[in-house]
Amino acid sequence: MFPRHFLFGTATSATQVEGGCTNTDWYDFARRPGRIKGGDTPEIACDQWSRWPEDVALQQRLGMTTHRLSIEWARVEPRPGEIDAAALDHYRAVLGALRDAGIEPMVTLHHFSLPRWVRDAGGLLADALPERLARYALRVVSALGDLCSLWVTINEPSVLVAQGYMLGAWPPGVQSPVTAIRAHHRLLEAHVAMYRAAHAADAQGRARVGVAHHVRVVQPERPRRPGDLAATALMRRTFNEAFGRALTEGKLYGPLDVLSRSKRGFRVADARGTQDFLGINYYSRDVVRFSAARAAEMFVARGIPEGAEVSDLGWEIYPEGLGEVLRAWYARAKIPVYVTENGVADAADTRRGRFLVDHLAQVEAAIADGVDVRGYYHWSLLDNFEWAEGYAARFGLVEVDYATQERRVRPSGELYARIARERALPGPMRR
Ligand code: NOJ
Repeated sequence: MFPRHFLFGTATSATQVEGGCTNTDWYDFARRPGRIKGGDTPEIACDQWSRWPEDVALQQRLGMTTHRLSIEWARVEPRPGEIDAAALDHYRAVLGALRDAGIEPMVTLHHFSLPRWVRDAGGLLADALPERLARYALRVVSALGDLCSLWVTINEPSVLVAQGYMLGAWPPGVQSPVTAIRAHHRLLEAHVAMYRAAHAADAQGRARVGVAHHVRVVQPERPRRPGDLAATALMRRTFNEAFGRALTEGKLYGPLDVLSRSKRGFRVADARGTQDFLGINYYSRDVVRFSAARAAEMFVARGIPEGAEVSDLGWEIYPEGLGEVLRAWYARAKIPVYVTENGVADAADTRRGRFLVDHLAQVEAAIADGVDVRGYYHWSLLDNFEWAEGYAARFGLVEVDYATQERRVRPSGELYARIARERALPGPMRR
């Protein structure tokens, strides 16, 4: 059984579902040949900008009690300092409808995409980024704070930095570990500024503000090889933990700290305690080895255990990892935890039901061990625009027919509805 107030919901993000916003770095990036699988773009996506009432009704019908969505910065602030009141009204309507349907919203302020003007003014590397994001956060929380108390400042900072600045697979397409470290540092500073702005804007003192951290399980491929151990430690301390530990310990992992010293007076110590809850996005495990050929990726080669079960994207399905991550992160931070994302690309829907039950069983066991997990957000409500993977990767509990925009609940969606309704996992499916 899950506790009475445990929240069950789904997660989405603006660029991935809304459609209709062409004023972002992602829109431009997707139009560059060869960048996105199948040449897909987020131009239409799930057309949720117009179809949102249907999607709220769908969640209500599935018995969801929470929903994580994001706000498109480019819509709210299309030009520097210029706030689009109609865009804020739109989000007010959505949040109001969610509340009326008994669905508690969690809103992400920054989920990967940037307004064009922010990109053109230096993107994540700009000295002004923290002020820009804080000003935006202040406006949004002032306008919507009466309808929402759970706020995520930044989604998966480490993924954004790795994909955009180290691997070059996402905008701005840079491949430089040193630049990635600078972007990471700037995002950390931005988070702290956003955290403070959100609290300053929240007149009623109800806001709870956190980060959705992407956390993986990382293990050495050959546990006796010093190289593999070093690669494992490096990936854990940088990609996996650096941002989160800066928020709990007020310190950055040594090498990152040295490389990201800035002249701007931001002290990492100020980051300590700037999250009211831990958001954990958990998907998979990496088995890593040292690879001299991969200098650009900090000498880390990632793989999966032989014979492991995988998703359509080749990611290992490893439910135990969620339990491990919840325990380890809670032990460090000792604040309420939300699983802000967890899901699987599975177009045939043959693995998602099992995936759900096995991962939720890990959550249930962690709660029984004293980990204060307050809610679970399955990624995703709908199939959507999976960034560089385009529309082929299908993460939805609800299938989207992109030709007609018809939504069809998958069997796993019905199963999740039942779990949410009964607040319990189906006995016969437990392992
Ligand atoms: C994490 C990201 O936050 C989300 O945007 C993405 O679609 C899912 N993981 C699946 O990759």
